[in-house]
Amino acid sequence: MVKVLVTGGAGFIGSNFVRHAIRAHEDWTVTTLDKLTYAGRLENLASVADHPRHRFVKGDIADPEVTGPLVRDADIVVNFAAETHVDRSIKHAGDFITTDVYGTFVLLEAARENPSLRRFVQISTDEVYGSVPVGSSGETDELKPRNPYSASKAGADRLAYSYWATYQVPVVITRASNNYGPNQFPEKIIPLFITNLIDDIPVPLYGDGQNERDWLHVEDHCRGVDLLIEKGVPGEVYNIGGGNQVKNVDLTHRILELVGKPASLIKPVADRPGHDRRYSLDTRKLESLGWTPRENFESGLAATVRWYRENEAWWRPIKDQDPAFRKYYQEQYGQR
Ligand code: NAD
Ligand code: DAU
Repeated sequence: MVKVLVTGGAGFIGSNFVRHAIRAHEDWTVTTLDKLTYAGRLENLASVADHPRHRFVKGDIADPEVTGPLVRDADIVVNFAAETHVDRSIKHAGDFITTDVYGTFVLLEAARENPSLRRFVQISTDEVYGSVPVGSSGETDELKPRNPYSASKAGADRLAYSYWATYQVPVVITRASNNYGPNQFPEKIIPLFITNLIDDIPVPLYGDGQNERDWLHVEDHCRGVDLLIEKGVPGEVYNIGGGNQVKNVDLTHRILELVGKPASLIKPVADRPGHDRRYSLDTRKLESLGWTPRENFESGLAATVRWYRENEAWWRPIKDQDPAFRKYYQEQYGQR
């Protein structure tokens, strides 16, 4: 059996990846290591909770006592664990440094002590390229992160690379664009807007709404990571993008239409400080390995709206009952 350690596997992309991995690879046993921060939820792993090839370990990637034995015992490590929300990083950057940079360092140190490790996949992000006014970012482009989240991810991205260049830890780095799909925490634009609109709550659109993102379905992302575990070359970086460039205002109108609510629910609010205008990825390198996105944005977004409609039991406890989420919402949007 191939022993796979997935960090951050109780979060949005990590849990989709764990489910994908168990489904796609009968010869993999998967250990999920997750601290269960506000974004990590065991409900995301309910379908594999009792699976004989899955086990869950609660712990912090920055704690060498926890990570050491798990990493030393693994054949493959996929590091999804991170603080991930840009707006939170702008208010409180500390946890981003501790988890995204220092936590990755702790994992890499343990990886150095595992001579049979086959791959260490570091999940980075397209945000490390910074704002791209025209064209698309290629893997060798300069990194120009512009907010504490993307700067901490860029630090981890290059730290991981250094462990390949210096110690030959078999690191592969992925830089994906904005993901969407089931189980995304309702702080990010798509789930926040869908769930607000279901309840007729206005949706806060930042600035002029012309900022542009490239949307990637989470399942396409998982297939890309899976392929790179097999075919990614150590020391190399691979972009994973959906090829769906959409301005925020257009995205908002599509969501309004799918939920069946009027445009009067759009509330223009003050812009995000340092708001990156546009991201766009050149994905030819990954495509040359045989990957192509399968999900069409129109049907993928419609399915995502359906998922939130059908899974109120998943998000209502967060949005309606969790005092921490209310505090967060008030801090972000109360005075905006
Ligand atoms: P998420 O916030 O939904 O989940 C993050 C998970 O990491 C949570 O389960 C959380 O409990 C866990 N975690 C946080 N700190 C931890 C720690 N110290 N130790 C162990 N676990 C910890 O995030 P996501 O959107 O699923 O993102 C996953 C990864 O993908 C991140 O590395 C992120 O930077 C990257 N990424 C995300 C996107 C996107 O659009 N969401 C795009 C590109 C890359
Ligand atoms: O590009 C990849 C990145 O995508 C990941 O690395 C990050 O982890 C992930 O959070 C995401 O970052 P963004 O900042 O692009 O995602 P977010 O959903 O926060 O915002 C998407 C766009 O929508 C952005 O231009 C800001 C805007 N926005 C966001 C929120 C939450 C709004 O207009 N209103 C909002 O309330």
